[in-house]
Amino acid sequence: MSADGRTRTLDTMIEVKGLTRTYGGYTAVDDISFRTRPGSVTGFLGPNGAGKTTAMRIMVGLTAATRGEATIGGHRYHDIVNPGRHVGVLLDAGAQHAGRTGREILSLGARIMGLPVSRVDEMLDLVSLDDDEAKRKLRNYSLGMKQRLGIAHALLGDPEVLVLDEPANGLDPAGIRWMRDLLRGYARRGGTVLLSSHLLHEVELVADDLVLIGRGRIVASGDRESLASTDAASTLARARDNDELAAALAREGITAVPEGAGLRVSASTADVSRVSVQHSVILTDLRSGAKGLEDLFLDLTSSAQREGAAAPGSLAALSTSNGSPR
Ligand SMILES: Nc1ncnc2c1ncn2[C@@H]1O[C@H](COP(=O)(O)OP(=O)(O)OP(=O)(O)O)[C@@H](O)[C@H]1O
Ligand SMILES: [Mg+2]
Repeated sequence: MSADGRTRTLDTMIEVKGLTRTYGGYTAVDDISFRTRPGSVTGFLGPNGAGKTTAMRIMVGLTAATRGEATIGGHRYHDIVNPGRHVGVLLDAGAQHAGRTGREILSLGARIMGLPVSRVDEMLDLVSLDDDEAKRKLRNYSLGMKQRLGIAHALLGDPEVLVLDEPANGLDPAGIRWMRDLLRGYARRGGTVLLSSHLLHEVELVADDLVLIGRGRIVASGDRESLASTDAASTLARARDNDELAAALAREGITAVPEGAGLRVSASTADVSRVSVQHSVILTDLRSGAKGLEDLFLDLTSSAQREGAAAPGSLAALSTSNGSPR
């Protein structure tokens, strides 16, 4: 995209470099850096108060950065002419004039962006707001309806980039699935999506890449698969005699610690199986102990971070070419 707002290219990367925002002595966003890939959905994931909204507000020029910068397609948001044609933004679905109807809000947006009024009907249709609902004032909208209108508003100018803060908030299950399909399709056509959530389930099915933020800092980032499989060499095993299994594993140089009714073993299921055969230990249960993304998310964003400790083991090293934190 060029700053004159005319040329449309596929350079739709969002790039955040050393972004920091402090409020008095409090650091809401602490030196975060990441990059989104064109044609992909990046989930910006973190618990309440992690700094997601603050970072996104900086990206779209609503909050000033204390340090660092954020660019979209190489430009600061403020330098993009007719930004709604390039960057669709949904930060706070209720932040529109409450006395206007949904149709009025979209019509006004279309006028400002120089779009034909037919675009309004297309968008209302897309987000499944019917004629009657479009005539109601925003103050009488339900949460989910506001959210749908907000998504319609973000898509109005057919932008190449979407910055959406918790867009699934208030949507019913069908709405969440609809939004997921919409964003996947949008990314498939080359669009770039940055999508925040404090709920892993909302983003794990739609995001190609994840940026995990806790207490203002990025604690892990990378593509979803590599983040999810960081703990593959972990197995939960149970034997008729757990002590016997632990001893056999120790002889092979494999560590195991008690967990539940069995052992958590730092090796693959295949290795544990091999050792049990070699040492004639009878197993009664054997399964992958790899933690899911949910555990990873909780580990990374809760206790370890609160204590100011590094993220656990292999996870600390996680960062990929597309999203390298510091
Ligand atoms: N204008 C402000 N003045 C003081 N503190 C602020 C301001 N804006 C944000 N903060 C603080 O910055 C931190 C990050 O807030 P932010 O809204 O970015 O979190 P979030 O990740 O979006 O959380 P949530 O999931 O609850 O939406 C919070 O502790 C918040 O209180
Ligand atoms: Mg927020």
